[in-house]
Amino acid sequence: MTEPPAKMWSGRFRSAPHPIFDQWQKSIRFDWQLIDEEVLASKAHALMLEDAGILTHDERERIGHALDIIADNYSERQADIGNDRQAEDIHHFVELRLTEAIGELGLKLHTGRSRNEQIATDLRLYIEFRCRMLLVYLGKWIEQLLVQAKTAGDAVMPAYTHLQRAEPVLVAHWLLAYVEMLLRDASRLEDCMKRLNFCPLGSGAVAGATLALDRTIAARELHFTAPTANSMDATSDRDFVLEYLNALTLLALHASRFAEEITLFATAEFGFVDLPEEFSTGSSAMPQKKNPDLTELVRGKVGRIHGAAESVTLLLKGLPLAYNKDLQETQEPLFAASMEALKMLLVLPPFTRALTFRTDRMRAACETGFLNAMAAATYLVHKGIPFRKAHEKIGNAVRYCIERGCELGDLSLEELRQFGSEFDTDFFAAVTLEATLDCHDVIGGTARSRVHAALVETQQRVDALAAKYGPVGHEQEAAHARA
Ligand code: ARG
Repeated sequence: MTEPPAKMWSGRFRSAPHPIFDQWQKSIRFDWQLIDEEVLASKAHALMLEDAGILTHDERERIGHALDIIADNYSERQADIGNDRQAEDIHHFVELRLTEAIGELGLKLHTGRSRNEQIATDLRLYIEFRCRMLLVYLGKWIEQLLVQAKTAGDAVMPAYTHLQRAEPVLVAHWLLAYVEMLLRDASRLEDCMKRLNFCPLGSGAVAGATLALDRTIAARELHFTAPTANSMDATSDRDFVLEYLNALTLLALHASRFAEEITLFATAEFGFVDLPEEFSTGSSAMPQKKNPDLTELVRGKVGRIHGAAESVTLLLKGLPLAYNKDLQETQEPLFAASMEALKMLLVLPPFTRALTFRTDRMRAACETGFLNAMAAATYLVHKGIPFRKAHEKIGNAVRYCIERGCELGDLSLEELRQFGSEFDTDFFAAVTLEATLDCHDVIGGTARSRVHAALVETQQRVDALAAKYGPVGHEQEAAHARA
């Protein structure tokens, strides 16, 4: 059996690479994570070679079979690949194992292809798979937010602007706000999958394969929409990596806002939520503490995920066409951010399910502080007063109440009439908590009937998402175990 050369490119060189440089430039330390994608893409390439008459049917089958065995052999210990001493990268690794298994035939696989197209293909497959997996867990988190929203019923809480109490809303309305954000994050991931779904195989190193390969065969085999349209673009752009990382950044930002609110609401000052003990930690110094480490970490993860998007942005800037080794630097941030996002989405659904809201405290917070002032001004508008004037009159009444330590609804009709002759006995019904909620009777408003309808409508969108990306398959379970 012919020994494969130690390097994939040693023919032209008189001296071996400096060992320090050699170790440093290798990507096998991290691109072992692409083993499954590399095997899939290699099998698709073999099909094109068979079609072009470079491989016989039998040879192609032997290659395909050997590639499957390689993937299987490492399925439980993929990280071990990273310690391989000889392989330069995952493409080389698979070639080495293949040649060990089937001899010279293994070397034939690298006919008419370049690692430049291979890495571009592997990364697209990797991201597509991650998007699907993240969509499964994002769907689970959204589902738990919806369960909480339904459980909350007509419970109320203050909505804040400038972190000052503004108007009452249904707790469900607040939770549905996060559902909207996360559904947009889901659609961003889906969008990302659409644009990256073109197959670089057959693009060669830069100018296209030097064999007359039918590129549609590989595209079809790997479930891509079509072959990529331009070989220089296909081998050298990583916009799809950045798009994905930006989508993860937005997802992490939304998660951080939720995490921040839960952190605040769990303080003694707010007391709106009880942190579940199984998701909290204690202090080694202060025996009384129950700390919101989970939400603090979620808040903190944005830094790493956005950091990954930042790194990729910077390394793509000004890169001349086409492939440059700089592109290898996209991988570590990509893998790290994917893993962080996945781990975060594994912990958020059970955490959200375990939250208990102190609806008594939330309601009490709505009952003082003039959260019905807008509703009161609206009452005057219905009596024909321009809103600007109504605002002024209610403002005066609020000042009067502050001096007396009472709320608008506590004033007598006589007292109210100091601020306007339009006040009547129906004022008191117009400023109750329920009336205050229900006067926001517009699409997207917090009137109880609107929120009830929104819950039904949102559930339909969430079900549609789950139907596309759930239930969790065995691949997801495997990722779960690895994370
Ligand atoms: N490890 C390389 C990367 O991640 C694969 C492509 C290498 N191509 C090359 N011409 N050196 O980008």
